Amino acid sequence: MQTHLVGRDMITPDEWTDDEVNTIFEVAFDLKRRRAMGEPHALLRDKVLALMFFFSSTRTRVSFEAGMAQLGGHAQFIESRTTQISHGDTAKEIGEIVGRYCDGIAIRQCDWGVGNQYIRDVAQYSRVPVLNMQCDWYHPFQALADMMTIFERFGRDVRGKTLNVSWAYASSYQKPLSVPQSLITLATRYGMNVRLTRPPEFKLMPEIEDLARDYARRSGGSFEVLDDFDAGFEGAHVVYPKSWGATLTTTDMEESARIAGQYTDWITDRRRMDLADESVCYMHCLPADRNIEVTDEVIDGPQSAVYDEAENRLHVQKAVMALTMR
Ligand code: CP
Repeated sequence: MQTHLVGRDMITPDEWTDDEVNTIFEVAFDLKRRRAMGEPHALLRDKVLALMFFFSSTRTRVSFEAGMAQLGGHAQFIESRTTQISHGDTAKEIGEIVGRYCDGIAIRQCDWGVGNQYIRDVAQYSRVPVLNMQCDWYHPFQALADMMTIFERFGRDVRGKTLNVSWAYASSYQKPLSVPQSLITLATRYGMNVRLTRPPEFKLMPEIEDLARDYARRSGGSFEVLDDFDAGFEGAHVVYPKSWGATLTTTDMEESARIAGQYTDWITDRRRMDLADESVCYMHCLPADRNIEVTDEVIDGPQSAVYDEAENRLHVQKAVMALTMR
């Protein structure tokens, strides 16, 4: 367990060692237990976290605000369009200035080719930790919450368990690559057998896939890429079918939606769940396109872990905030 994480940024867990990531889970489980027992844990009394959103949110906003309140501090909700960013405030100025007012800066900026770099630019000039609430490449707190949920279902030793991270059809909007990219790199670190299942136009970043392969080699897990939706479900212990954009094929969102329209049958239903292991757990970060991406029967059924995943956002975020912002 690591005890010197004060001041660290969380942009991706790939920049934290195994021991440091394990520390996040130790603290998250402890904080979850403390909340269940009604034990006060005001570890960040009088601290302020700025929450800067360039994109909408339900879970991320509410869980960060609730988490800071439970830790005795305050979270300041800031929508980028209500700031002077569009009139010239640079990433450097945000880092320098907000970092002097607050004890942490959390940012959601998902624009392709912009978000990750923006967060890194703010972090370069900030004297306080910068937390990535989702960018174009990573959604670290979602992956940490998902992994915590997998540990709860299968125990802390998940070596040999098969996780199928799959593309699924959705009609609402072309979603970032960040959820599957963060999950395949975190789960392979823990020795899971990770499948990435997607149509050929919905590739993830090659360097992220290479990193997942490296982690799998190191942990004794595996990483494979499939393009058959049904095959991804076969024998899997955890299935995580969700939509993302054809971003590496086209940056034109209308074109991406047209390509996705060729795969409207990539919907998670009872028949597909029956292809998986009998202990299978269905996961989705939400929001889901109900009865397009997944049937109500599956997402509301006994194998679904979606509300535990959403809850665990709170606990892993509180752990990282308490470890980095003291
Ligand atoms: N899963 C997730 O990040 O949800 P929000 O977009 O509602 O924050």
